[in-house]
Amino acid sequence: MTKGFTLKASEPMVNGFDPADIERLPPRTRRQVGDRERLLGPGYRLFYEEPVEIVRGAGTLLYDADGNDYLDVYNNVTSVGHCHPYVVEAIHRQLSTLNTNTRYLQQSILGYSEQFLATMPAELGHVMFTCTGSEANDLAMRVARYYTGNQGIIVTSGAYHGLTADVSAFSPSLGVGVPLGPHVRTITAPDRLRHGGDLVTTMVREMREAIGDLQRHGFGIAAFIADTIFSSDGIYADPAGFLQPVVEAVHDAGGLFIADEVQPGFGRTGRHWWGFQRHGLVPDIMTTGKPMGNGIPIAAAAFRPELLVEFGRNIRYFNTFGGNSVSIAAAQAVLDVINDEGLIGNAERVGNYIQSEITTLASGYEQIAEVRGAGLFVGVDIVTDRDSNTPDGEATLRVVNHMRRRRVLLSASGPRGSVLKIRPPLPFSIEDADRMLENLAVVLGEELH
Ligand SMILES: Cc1ncc(COP(=O)(O)O)c(C=O)c1O
Repeated sequence: MTKGFTLKASEPMVNGFDPADIERLPPRTRRQVGDRERLLGPGYRLFYEEPVEIVRGAGTLLYDADGNDYLDVYNNVTSVGHCHPYVVEAIHRQLSTLNTNTRYLQQSILGYSEQFLATMPAELGHVMFTCTGSEANDLAMRVARYYTGNQGIIVTSGAYHGLTADVSAFSPSLGVGVPLGPHVRTITAPDRLRHGGDLVTTMVREMREAIGDLQRHGFGIAAFIADTIFSSDGIYADPAGFLQPVVEAVHDAGGLFIADEVQPGFGRTGRHWWGFQRHGLVPDIMTTGKPMGNGIPIAAAAFRPELLVEFGRNIRYFNTFGGNSVSIAAAQAVLDVINDEGLIGNAERVGNYIQSEITTLASGYEQIAEVRGAGLFVGVDIVTDRDSNTPDGEATLRVVNHMRRRRVLLSASGPRGSVLKIRPPLPFSIEDADRMLENLAVVLGEELH
């Protein structure tokens, strides 16, 4: 039986290697895992019961040392494909020419910013660059607090927004080992399966209660921050627009809405560049990161300009590496590739195909409660039975590890690790999808019956 690596009994099951299983690994893997533990210490985690060593990537494929290919159904960092030649060339060219910071005038950052801001509503008029999504959220929250004069933050109950001291304090998915700040409140995740038709009513009521509670405790409301595809909550895209009344409640109370686009951004959800567009919203601040430089560390926050007037006057912002020449070259190349290769359309077309094929496959299984998502971000909700809809993290991990043995790499999400997470690079083709689906059909047949 698949073992989920759990840090503590109260923590969710996650797709991870359990260090207690080290003796079961093949010799080379065992040695590498041991060396990691010895050199990197105990804070890191590896995917899968049997971790995968990869030595090379190309497009949607990863390769191990023996030349076996693995289908990558998970990476939204190398979002335009592993080692995309156009991106590699752009980085190489820039690295051979100049790599310096934002304290000098450079035309490339201006050209990029112009195009980046043009992908979003005109209300978002300034962009500031960081190295990671955590830093972008940290900056966004500093600005939100400065502008509103309030400290309170509201997130969904399974949210992840990053790793700094400040941001991890509003990332409940990190579990009980990382306590939420006293100024943080959570609202329910947009889980239609378990909240039924009352989802929006429930979320708005909980939002009003959370705001009231923050006000009573003297924190006030600075911002509601949401990952607009709710990846760590379990992947929730529908009904499109459900976030609008929730955000309205925040604005009514004088708080800001921060759209965390680290996961859905750069076209992953198909049709739009950004996840908030699915909800017909214009955020006050938008943050992004992971897919922005196809693996080169670059992230950003975009703002309504009025939010930065006082902040910019009184606070000096310098980020040594954020927005440096090479990271901007990478980001520009990613933008070019998304446009030139029509990757947003591909995300929609192939994503719809995957969702509809898995929906057909799922009809034969009592343990699949829902197939959902948008574009190339698809979730498969696995339960013990459809009457209770009890999340079944164990079964999900069995599927994940069995797929890994068949060299198809995906993972699990949601507070119980019970939602199969299908989130491949954007150039994922129909042929790639078919390879995944053929394997999934076999694995579901063996693991869910
Ligand atoms: C929704 C979301 N926000 C923020 C982050 C943090 O980004 P980074 O790891 O680049 O700091 C992540 C990372 O997984 C994320 O999924």
